[in-house]
Amino acid sequence: MAPLSSPRKNTPKRLRLKKSLRSLIEFGGGDQIEQSQFQSTTRKLYDGPAGAVLYLASKLSLHDPLVGRIIKTRRFDVSEFRSILDIGSGAGQILGHLLRETHPDARLVACDLSHQMLKRARTRMDSPRPNYLSADMTNLPFQDESFDCVTCGWVLEYVADPKHGLMEIQRVLQPGGSLFLLATEDKFSGMLNSRTWKCRTYNRVELKQAFEESGLPWKEQHWFTPIHQFLRLGGIIVEATKPLEPTEVQS
Ligand SMILES: C[S@@+](CC[C@H](N)C(=O)[O-])C[C@H]1O[C@@H](n2cnc3c(N)ncnc32)[C@H](O)[C@@H]1O
Repeated sequence: MAPLSSPRKNTPKRLRLKKSLRSLIEFGGGDQIEQSQFQSTTRKLYDGPAGAVLYLASKLSLHDPLVGRIIKTRRFDVSEFRSILDIGSGAGQILGHLLRETHPDARLVACDLSHQMLKRARTRMDSPRPNYLSADMTNLPFQDESFDCVTCGWVLEYVADPKHGLMEIQRVLQPGGSLFLLATEDKFSGMLNSRTWKCRTYNRVELKQAFEESGLPWKEQHWFTPIHQFLRLGGIIVEATKPLEPTEVQS
C-alpha cells in the first residue's frame, strides 16, 4: 500500500498555507451551504450543459480510459461480483467498463441524483442489463446488504460530510463486499477541478479516517499509472472492504 502523506509535509506552516490556497481557489459551496441546497445546485449543474459535456470531458482528461484500465487489468477485479451498484453513474463512464468486465449474469444498478444524467447514461449504454434509478447517495433506496460491490467515481465530493455517504454504502454492502471509490484530492489540480465542477475536495488522511469510522477500512490505494503515483496526481482512488464481522460504526 502506498504511504499516506509524510508528517514532514503536514507542518503547521504548510497546513496554514494549504488552507489559504484552498479558500482562494476551491469551490466553497460544500462548506457554506446546507446539504439539501448543495444537492439541488448539483442536480441543476448535471441536468444542464455541464452534464451534457461530462462524457467528453472525462475522455479528454483521460479519466474514463484510465479507470477502464484499472478494471480491465483487474487491479480492481470485478469478474467475481454478482450484484453491483454504481453510485453517481453520470454518463455511464464506470458503468460501461462494468458492462464489459463483469459476469453477464451480474446484476448492475446505476443510480444518480440527476434525471438527465440517467437518461444520458441509458442512451450511451444501449444495453438492457443495467437498472437505472434516481437516488441520493446519502439515502439509498436499497435494503441492507443488497450488493457485493459498490463503485462510486467522483461523487462523494458532493456530500458535505463524507460519513453520510460512506455509512450508506457500508449499509448496502454485504459483509466482505468491496467498494471502489474515486475522489478529488486537495491538491492544486483538484482544487481547480472543484471550481469547475462545483464540488469539494478531500484530504487523503482525513478521508481514510472517515472510511474507518464508517466501517469501511481501506484495503488498497490505486494510482492510474506509476507516473501518477510518483507525482501524486490523479486523486484518491481506493478499494475498501466491509469486514466480515460487524464493526462499531461512529455516527
Ligand atoms: C463527476 S460526475 C461522475 C460520473 C461518473 N461516476 C464518473 O466516474 O465519471 C458526478 C455524478 O454524481 C452525481 N451525484 C452528485 N451528487 C450525488 C448524490 N448525492 N447522489 C447520487 N448522485 C450524485 C451527479 O449528478 C453526477 O452525475
